[in-house]
Amino acid sequence: MIISLRSISYDDLKNQLSKDDKIVINSCNTCIKSCGIGGLQNMTVLENMLLADGYNVLGIDLISIGCSLNLVEYHRQDIKKKEMYDEATVIITLICEDGYEGMKYVFKDKKVISITKTLGTGNFTMDRGVVLTHPFESTGLEKNSEGYELDEVAEKLGLFEDFFDEDDAAFKDEEYVDIIIDGEEVSAIKNQNLLCVCEENGIEIPHLCYNEELSEAGVCRLCLVKIEGRKDLVPACCTHVEEGMKITTNDEQLNKYRRIILELIMASQNHNCLTCSKGIPTPLYNCELQRLIRQFGIEKSRFDENNEFMPVDNSSPVIVHDPNKCILCGRCVRACEEIAGICNIGFINRGSETVVAAGLNVDMNQSDCAACMACVNACPTGALTEKVIHFTGKDWEPQKVYCEQM
Ligand code: FES
Repeated sequence: MIISLRSISYDDLKNQLSKDDKIVINSCNTCIKSCGIGGLQNMTVLENMLLADGYNVLGIDLISIGCSLNLVEYHRQDIKKKEMYDEATVIITLICEDGYEGMKYVFKDKKVISITKTLGTGNFTMDRGVVLTHPFESTGLEKNSEGYELDEVAEKLGLFEDFFDEDDAAFKDEEYVDIIIDGEEVSAIKNQNLLCVCEENGIEIPHLCYNEELSEAGVCRLCLVKIEGRKDLVPACCTHVEEGMKITTNDEQLNKYRRIILELIMASQNHNCLTCSKGIPTPLYNCELQRLIRQFGIEKSRFDENNEFMPVDNSSPVIVHDPNKCILCGRCVRACEEIAGICNIGFINRGSETVVAAGLNVDMNQSDCAACMACVNACPTGALTEKVIHFTGKDWEPQKVYCEQM
């Protein structure tokens, strides 16, 4: 993993900008995100800071692997982003220095500003977070198998370990509304996503098809809530808060529906959780479906299980696609379009025959897959996994067990 730290202050950044600039902020969603200075959240913070200071920010764009020239080019040409990129005069990019060179190449007609310094390679550790183990010579740091923690490196090299001050991001002229969630008064930004508002206030609503990095789809229906005055239940993930809303997120009826939905998902395929690599929770991977099934205490689905086995696509050098574990939430499809910028995977067939497939239903290695892992990171179950962890699930070996007769 490439390790980078922030190299300039917010004032340094503003000194490179003018109020006439038309700015797009983009970010790699891989190493730089793990280092705490990239990703959707940080782009949003910076966008808010610049907007509050009167700069013209046209938009933000998340790129699965920013150092892949092809992917950056796809994003630039993407029909939904092309106009924004064409209009921009400045690109502020949250990316490692290698990615910055590629970004300058793709956007050679624009001013491209980087905010990072890249220090070498390292690892993500369970207890110490990201550590730098192989510093570049230019850092003056010795190689160290223990690794250097990022705050230590930041101090030594006069860099910034964190992103631009998030507190400053609370400035944007947001309009706030008062709503009531489960009887409690809550203040929220007008039009904010209801599921996010609930989570920010410690109210967990079960969800599977929603992912904050992706567009809203509302297909799994697990996040249904009640809103006073609405005839029907509404999905919290596709609802935006308005003044005076009164919301119920948790009652017997809602939980009954959620349970039925989970049981239907369980019955829709043979999920084979016992041997699934995502069944073993790690900081990077865990099965969101399994977690919900445990939370609801479901031991068995009341519905007949579909035991039809579909072949596992093991053809990619880095990704395993197991359609038997797919819940058709569409997160991978949206990630491939919105974060990878490729649209390589999509739904094929109709009704109960619907499956996710690569290209025109070819093996992954025959398709345009860029192996950027956007789909793998988005998948809430074990349907798409990284090959290196795929076979780490339990291998169950039958054994003869002899019991003494009572
Ligand atoms: Fe809201 Fe799936 S998370 S419908």
